[in-house]
Amino acid sequence: MTEQSPRKRVRTRHFQNAKENGIPIVGLTSYDQLSAAIFDAADIDFLLVGDSAGNNVFGNETTLAVTVDQLIPLARAVAGAASRALVVGDMPFGSYEGGPDDALHTAVRFMKEANVHAVKLEGGVRSAAQIRRIVDAGIPVMAHIGFTPQSEHGLGGHIIQGRGEGAEALVADAHAVEDAGAFAVVLEMVPSSVAKRITSELRIPTISVGAGPHVDGQLLVWTDFAGFSQGRVPRFVKQYANLTQVLTEAVNEFRADVASGAYPAPEHEFEG
Ligand code: KIV
Repeated sequence: MTEQSPRKRVRTRHFQNAKENGIPIVGLTSYDQLSAAIFDAADIDFLLVGDSAGNNVFGNETTLAVTVDQLIPLARAVAGAASRALVVGDMPFGSYEGGPDDALHTAVRFMKEANVHAVKLEGGVRSAAQIRRIVDAGIPVMAHIGFTPQSEHGLGGHIIQGRGEGAEALVADAHAVEDAGAFAVVLEMVPSSVAKRITSELRIPTISVGAGPHVDGQLLVWTDFAGFSQGRVPRFVKQYANLTQVLTEAVNEFRADVASGAYPAPEHEFEG
């Protein structure tokens, strides 16, 4: 979405323009102001303060335990650091399933307390009423269908969605979120052929997380793309750096320098 440079805020209408003009949309997750400032300066179009913070910040095994109260300070830090990117707050498990009123309450908290520009929630047909209520209140919604990590126990694990007979249900989910007013839809871990069909049928942009190239944009979890994750990294991720190795080497050098007396050197001292 490079025509948005320099430094003009990306809006939901720019997502639509990007789709119509075949300009790929680029997103990353972010959970803090340091990474957000770097990604924003690099013209990443949107920053998702994902519930993957449950794993990548709070050390939980799944995204299920993270709460609105935990995500809001992270989202506020990201929104405060991003002058161009559209910042999306991810509504965590348990904060919208109760129904449209529940969902609107959570979305309003993200808008007022974190200053984000949009919210995201998981689910297609099952979440359409919630999306409609939030959109009717003037809050943009990014939908998320396919593999939805908040349902990983119900889905039976990290399983590709929309294969075989599952394709029709996935396409129905995509139409349901568009009809409910979502401005974009994340397709997570679905076959490329189905993502291609959805992208051609929908008016709103599709954003791939492991849904192949025939979509309108790509999103990755930043700790995965930068080699800073603990544990399993999904096959669809391309690793662009190895921050774990960089930090490990730095911390080992620091410890050794302190042990040997090489740090601090005279240039690190203050004179009296
Ligand atoms: O929380 C997250 O990081 C997400 C993306 C993987 C879509 O929801």
